[in-house]
Amino acid sequence: MKRVGVITNNVNLASANIFFNAFKKRTQPYMIDIYNLRVAAFPKKWEVFYPRLRLSNLDAVFFRGCISPPSLLDFRLTVSEHLEEMGLDVINPSKATRICRNKFSTIQFLQRHGVPTPKTRAALTPSAAMRSIRKMKKPVIIKLLSGSHGKGVMRICSNDEAESVIDALWALGEIIYFQEYIETSGKDIRVIVLENEVIAAMERTARNGDFRSNLSRGGKGEKVELEAGLRRLALKATKAVGAVFAGVDIVVDGRPKVLEVNINPGLKISRITEVNIADRVARYIAGK
Ligand SMILES: Nc1ncnc2c1ncn2[C@@H]1O[C@H](COP(=O)(O)OP(=O)(O)O)[C@@H](O)[C@H]1O
Ligand SMILES: [Mg+2]
Repeated sequence: MKRVGVITNNVNLASANIFFNAFKKRTQPYMIDIYNLRVAAFPKKWEVFYPRLRLSNLDAVFFRGCISPPSLLDFRLTVSEHLEEMGLDVINPSKATRICRNKFSTIQFLQRHGVPTPKTRAALTPSAAMRSIRKMKKPVIIKLLSGSHGKGVMRICSNDEAESVIDALWALGEIIYFQEYIETSGKDIRVIVLENEVIAAMERTARNGDFRSNLSRGGKGEKVELEAGLRRLALKATKAVGAVFAGVDIVVDGRPKVLEVNINPGLKISRITEVNIADRVARYIAGK
């Protein structure tokens, strides 16, 4: 039986336990609190230690959470790279973690691999950003580079509004990341990809008055059958960033465009689509 570590920043996290319990049926899992991990780099002898467990004895690790604050994500990356070098299977791979932690680098990798995205820009200072924003059609979307759950995604309707928002971002030391607004009446598609397969898809609709369709912002999800083109697009986006298990956000206004690739997708889609996502991941790991 495969030995699998579930590494999380909170061993009581509901989703970490859903994965852990699903893994129990097909593998030998270990719940691992990242705060108690120690990484050892000795010449020719790398190890990651946990109380009563050497991670070199595992076959694979599956990360859940460990996204924020940045120091936690940095440590997750350190552990991931260490374990990969030691020969373990790491889900999601460090490459995907490195790319997807930053929405602009995600866009760069997507475009490099021919995946369509909204037109996106980044600038450091308000004056540099405003040079573009003044010329852009309104509304404009401004985002935090590392936000999630729709937090920090803003729809800006005028130059004055843009100036006050980006002054605040500059004061907070944030890079200013902005893109064209795609009009979809608050709808988008969330696609769950596992390796080379689309395993679940839902259409999300934003709560009245909001444009962000995230379920955690009160959006509603409905199961959809994806046409072949959207399936291929989700698979291509996942591959472009080097992820194995991902939630791909797609907006469609005539032509589909990928907004982002999520390396820690939420599990509410399981109930909406009646797909046991944790069990699918368990089967994938057990069968490798
Ligand atoms: N460029 C855009 N045009 C229209 N809607 C957008 C755009 N960017 C984001 N949104 C809406 O905001 C939601 C959250 O944005 P997203 O980039 O996925 O960030 P998060 O990581 O917070 O989910 C999307 O699911 C979508 O509904
Ligand atoms: Mg999203």
